[in-house]
Amino acid sequence: MRVCVVGSGAREHALALACARTAEVVVTPGNPGIAGRSPEGHTISSLSAPPGEVEADLYVIGPEAPLVDGLADRLRSRGATVFGPGADGARLEGSKSFMKEVAAAAGVPTARHQAVTRVEEAERFFAALDGGPYVVKTDGLAGGKGVLVAPSLDEALADVAAKLSGEAFGAAGSTVVVEEALSGPELSLLVLCDGRRCLPLPAAQDYKRLGDHDAGPNTGGMGAYSPVPLATERLVEQVMDEIVQPSLAELERRGISYRGVLYAGLMCGPQGPKLVEYNVRFGDPEAQVVLPRLDGDVAELLRAAAAGELPDKVVVRSDLAAVGVVVASAGYPGAPRLGDRLYGVDEASTVEGVMVLHGATARREPTDSAARAFATAGGRVLTVVGTGTDLAEARERAYRATDLISFPGAQHRSDIAAAPAGPGTTATPRARSER
Ligand code: AMP
Ligand code: GLY
Repeated sequence: MRVCVVGSGAREHALALACARTAEVVVTPGNPGIAGRSPEGHTISSLSAPPGEVEADLYVIGPEAPLVDGLADRLRSRGATVFGPGADGARLEGSKSFMKEVAAAAGVPTARHQAVTRVEEAERFFAALDGGPYVVKTDGLAGGKGVLVAPSLDEALADVAAKLSGEAFGAAGSTVVVEEALSGPELSLLVLCDGRRCLPLPAAQDYKRLGDHDAGPNTGGMGAYSPVPLATERLVEQVMDEIVQPSLAELERRGISYRGVLYAGLMCGPQGPKLVEYNVRFGDPEAQVVLPRLDGDVAELLRAAAAGELPDKVVVRSDLAAVGVVVASAGYPGAPRLGDRLYGVDEASTVEGVMVLHGATARREPTDSAARAFATAGGRVLTVVGTGTDLAEARERAYRATDLISFPGAQHRSDIAAAPAGPGTTATPRARSER
């Protein structure tokens, strides 16, 4: 099989490596750090070409923007087998108010909210809550950076005004969603869907804030781990029964056949799991820790989902844990600094059980003599994934490798998987932090 993975981040690197257990993989637009050979001997090439011009038996679309833009529909209309929802299903991520509308129609537990286009409407909504924190979101896509959880009402209202004015997020902020704050440990549950059936993958926990102990601004995600002790079989069943299945049924009622991965972002507080958001693709960095834990032929599994032929179950490697640490460039998540030379990537890759996944790297051009010299080319530069027989071993390996990597202004969190959320946990480091 030949698989075309669309995208260029560490998530796509993880998807490429997983598919290249059994298939040849082309990643477009890819990045120079992705190209190579899988341990199983299949080639992974990075090619800057429109996906429609790449011959493949299966197209796997990584990021949300092309999905929202209808790439899956365009490829399917030419007869291609595509893993990823059409533009209709991708609205779940492309518009937070659409997601809330589907959740309400499906009776899914989620935060109370209102879509607003004027600051006064937000003021009235917040006044009716029992105090903060106050949550403000752009309705449209904002690369994981469009959410503010503010302890003070003034800060929240100033953010509503900035988003509505277009200065902060352009058209994505022309409608703003204001919400009550939920609390409790967060969980990412990625669910494979084939238009009829759905299968949960192993749960992961993501660290959205930039700094240790959840200090600093929201990012696209600074690290993740899997398994999550909190995600018992019972909890996952509850999420599937109360949240995921009713949502998919509501989509079906609207004539939307969803093929791809539905990512449920959840908060698991004392009132049970509640839906924070849906994403319509693998999480980044969740994919980097979930995909290594899938047993067997991942390319075939994704093809089966794309073709409406999901098997009865996904076989998970319960003997394998994974911890991913994102290394970000100076300035992230604001304006990432580009062109900083990376050191230690090859050394880090030789640590047992470690994969260094390239998110935003470029070849250091043009005069550098080092054979594999890379420089920063965006915000989340690398994800260093450690695997091991348990979280402690995976974490030790991930950080041992991360410590070998350096470049000016490099940022990473040091508390990924330091206190995994377990059953009965009422607070993770994130929930304890001051917002
Ligand atoms: P989203 O882009 O909707 O996933 O939001 C990004 C992050 O903001 C989430 O992972 C949470 O950490 C936080 N967040 C979003 N909505 C809420 C909420 N209603 N209450 C508390 N935190 C939230
Ligand atoms: N890690 C969060 C996301 O992919 O949206």
